[in-house]
Amino acid sequence: MRESKSNNNESLPTEEVHTPSSQRFLSFTKEAIDNPEEFWNTQAEIITWYKRWEKVLDESNSPFFRWFIGGKLNVSYNAIDRHLLAGKRNNAAYIWVAEDGAEHILTYEGLSQRVNSFAKALLDLGLKKGDVVLIYLPMILELPVAMLAAARIGVVFSVVFSGFGAQAIADRINDSGAKVVITADGGFRRGKIVELKKVVDDALNMTKSVEYVIVVKRTGHEINMVEGRDFWWDQVSNDINAKVKPEVMDSNDPLYILYTSGTTGKPKGVVHGNGGYSVWVANTLKWAFDPKPDDRWWCAADIGWVTGHSYIVFAPLFLGLTSILYEGAIDFPSPDRMWAIIERYKVNILYTSPTAIRMLMKYGDVYPQKHNLDSLRELGTVGEPINPAAWNWYYTVIGKGKCPIIDTYWQTETGGFIISPASYFGFDNLKPGSATFPMPGIDPVILDDSGNEVEPGNKGFLVIRRPWPGLMLTLNKDPDRYKAVYFSKFPGKYQTGDYAVKDEDGYFWLLGRADEVLKVAGHRIGTIEVEDALVGIANIAEAAVFGKPDPIKGDAIISFVTLKSGEVLTPAKINELKQQIRERLGPIMVPEEIHTVRVLPKTRSGKIMRRVVKAVYLNQIPGDITTLEDGASLEEIKTALETFRKEVT
Ligand code: WTA
Repeated sequence: MRESKSNNNESLPTEEVHTPSSQRFLSFTKEAIDNPEEFWNTQAEIITWYKRWEKVLDESNSPFFRWFIGGKLNVSYNAIDRHLLAGKRNNAAYIWVAEDGAEHILTYEGLSQRVNSFAKALLDLGLKKGDVVLIYLPMILELPVAMLAAARIGVVFSVVFSGFGAQAIADRINDSGAKVVITADGGFRRGKIVELKKVVDDALNMTKSVEYVIVVKRTGHEINMVEGRDFWWDQVSNDINAKVKPEVMDSNDPLYILYTSGTTGKPKGVVHGNGGYSVWVANTLKWAFDPKPDDRWWCAADIGWVTGHSYIVFAPLFLGLTSILYEGAIDFPSPDRMWAIIERYKVNILYTSPTAIRMLMKYGDVYPQKHNLDSLRELGTVGEPINPAAWNWYYTVIGKGKCPIIDTYWQTETGGFIISPASYFGFDNLKPGSATFPMPGIDPVILDDSGNEVEPGNKGFLVIRRPWPGLMLTLNKDPDRYKAVYFSKFPGKYQTGDYAVKDEDGYFWLLGRADEVLKVAGHRIGTIEVEDALVGIANIAEAAVFGKPDPIKGDAIISFVTLKSGEVLTPAKINELKQQIRERLGPIMVPEEIHTVRVLPKTRSGKIMRRVVKAVYLNQIPGDITTLEDGASLEEIKTALETFRKEVT
């Protein structure tokens, strides 16, 4: 199949094309591939090390690649202390904007005080290097503070996105063995309170390892506090003069575990280390966006996902930048919220997702036009492929044709950007919808199913041939799964799980997942994970879950379920069911549509044929159904759909 994407897309008007400066970029990337030892010896100096590494890369236990062998550092020292020593104590680390518009500016000095105070609190609770804490907080300043305080004392942290529910938290506590949970009484979302502490209480009924819960007071509404187990943040973090010496960490000690969806029900605990990860995130932010020291950087993601870890917390703080940290929804209380924040705080670089861009685009141009967006110099996107229409709107209406679009392609596992325009080197011609070229040190190739490189313009699996410093260390407690998922299909090479095309000019075009993973509003969710979670809730017996293309969100979750009682539910009952799912799994996992049927199509060996359900749903020919056990099940799905569609019209 030939898919020459470059010809299908609208190209930029010629006068708006940025001048190519590829020579500098090409020789830099060539050096990274041809001479990695020397290249990384220099680039790793972006981080301050207590002890320099003896060897750049150890491949002896491939595919467990280890970087900067023998190097010692502390991540919180790099994010904070070294800026204080460089005379930047009064610079703002974060401009925090609450959903109700309140603001709080936290300087590097203030960040230092809070991190030291909280690190001391964690030590006082008896935590030590290698212990794990779980963090379940809204987008408030205590979130980066907790992450940095843990990193300061060598405690591994695992942040759980606040849209997940009790079951997800319990699973993550049980997998990581977390001893302490850090949460808040609640968070604000669209003016309403999200009950975070209550969710934690429910989760703790399903776990054993947690000794203490630390609770930030954010909403002030009444919550349950368990004597001896639960403490208010201000109660334990109360010494503003605390000075906690940063723990000297080995480059390959774990820094955090971030759970992400894969193709089984059990989420994968991606483990990132201290050294390689830090070198990678700091350099990639510099190369891709070329931020200037007094820029205001706004990565409008949630810290609960990897984008927030790498590009709200670590990379911008390593570079000593000033970030906007926004608590709420970008279209609340009105659709111009994002543009109002940019104008108010004179943001120079905005980094957001295609879902956000499509949603704001749908509200109309009047909203951005109400605001002066002249401070913007660069615009970034991440999380899903960006369609040319959204790209062009972002470029012309938001960037006024003067801001390049930095479409960064990467994954939780890759630590930071792996394919992205590199504005540090000037611009090569951007093509709307292409993430352009590999970051220095990344060696991507497009392979067919048998591992042969495909011709330019052809679709195939995106695979990375060589290790890079940002690659995860392993999957928590599951090294075999790490090998099997990422390094077995194409032995020794990292399989991204994405389809891509490389065009005749060497540009990469990402075409979406090649597996059962969905991108719902940029959030990564496994269909099988949702199925596993649904079964057992209320009286759901079986579930088939798949993604429906959605013009705003990328994918929408659709599910067909059978109930133990064999019932087919009315719309009112389905809403009740959704509410139960929301409570247990969190809003993020609730399917947009739930259809109850009496039977689901299955193979003779009893496997649910998700692909067939999806095909019937999308009105496509279901393909090979010779292994189908009960042909009547297709009629069931069609009937359920007809009823549903009649009800919604
Ligand atoms: C998708 C998010 C196209 C891709 C940082 C990848 C993208 C998955 C892009 C990882 C992009 C991310 N263009 N697709 N610029 N960025 N993706 O782990 O399918 O939440 O495999 O990390 O998002 O999602 P994750």
